[in-house]
Amino acid sequence: MKIIYKLKILFLRIVGYEKPLRVAFLKYLQVKYKTFKPHYETVLLESCKEAKKLGINKISVLELGVAGGNGIIALEKYKKSIEKHLDVKIDIYGFDTGEGMPPTNLKEDLPFVWKQGIYKVDKEALSKKIKSKIFYGDIKNTVGDFINTSPNKVACIFFDLDYYSSTKSFMDQIDSLREHLLPRVFCYFDDLHLPEKYISDINGVALAIKEFNSSNVKFKFGKNVDHIMDFKFPLAKSLIYMLHHFDHHDYNKFIGEAYGDDLDIKSTKIKYSILDD
Ligand SMILES: C[S@@+](CC[C@H](N)C(=O)[O-])C[C@H]1O[C@@H](n2cnc3c(N)ncnc32)[C@H](O)[C@@H]1O
Repeated sequence: MKIIYKLKILFLRIVGYEKPLRVAFLKYLQVKYKTFKPHYETVLLESCKEAKKLGINKISVLELGVAGGNGIIALEKYKKSIEKHLDVKIDIYGFDTGEGMPPTNLKEDLPFVWKQGIYKVDKEALSKKIKSKIFYGDIKNTVGDFINTSPNKVACIFFDLDYYSSTKSFMDQIDSLREHLLPRVFCYFDDLHLPEKYISDINGVALAIKEFNSSNVKFKFGKNVDHIMDFKFPLAKSLIYMLHHFDHHDYNKFIGEAYGDDLDIKSTKIKYSILDD
């Protein structure tokens, strides 16, 4: 491409970019520094806060799709500070074939985007860098192994398996995980909508979520839409769903802050704090 034409495209991209450029800057930092993942940190933090409100001090966090391990390394870094500040215990678990993306011919998996064998894990190198347990093997065979370890309750899940079929394979096992979940589980989906990778609501992860929601009554993934009061999830706003486990014995347990006194006509109390809430 000629430089003049490249500049024109660059101009269109910058001028047409709808988010503030500071958000693009944060995203740039995340792309450049692979273990800088503010979305992982804040999802983990908020899920620990939810657990604590329910009276639970020990939680598990899952990353589905580990590859080189940047996500797990980031989580181990954030675990340290969150454990210190919130007085919780966090166990991190990863799941990966270890051999990279599995073979597939399913058009919903976008085999024209993801190639079999990419993201192969260097297990030895990774084991020197992390302490967390990684379950190697196809996700359809490893969720049971995780259950057999009698884990602490799962408070959040980072979905990064890329394929529709792999994501669905995990979702098909959610019922078997029911004893090990919080009533609501924060779920971050890394690959929900990427136009340049042809990912949309008719394939990939979004399709797996849609099918899960239409075939389940006890569990639903609820989409958190962007809201003016949401200061909590930098780089993750439209990528978070909440897995609701409606039959959970603690599902209706009150953990809110709406005591009503702040709305009393004489009250000067401010309910919302962007720092502490
Ligand atoms: C994009 S990579 C994960 C990147 C990683 N989360 C990070 O932050 O760097 C996707 C991974 O999902 C794994 N994967 C895909 N399908 C799988 C399946 N059915 N079972 C287990 N792992 C799978 C692949 O092996 C690959 O390593």
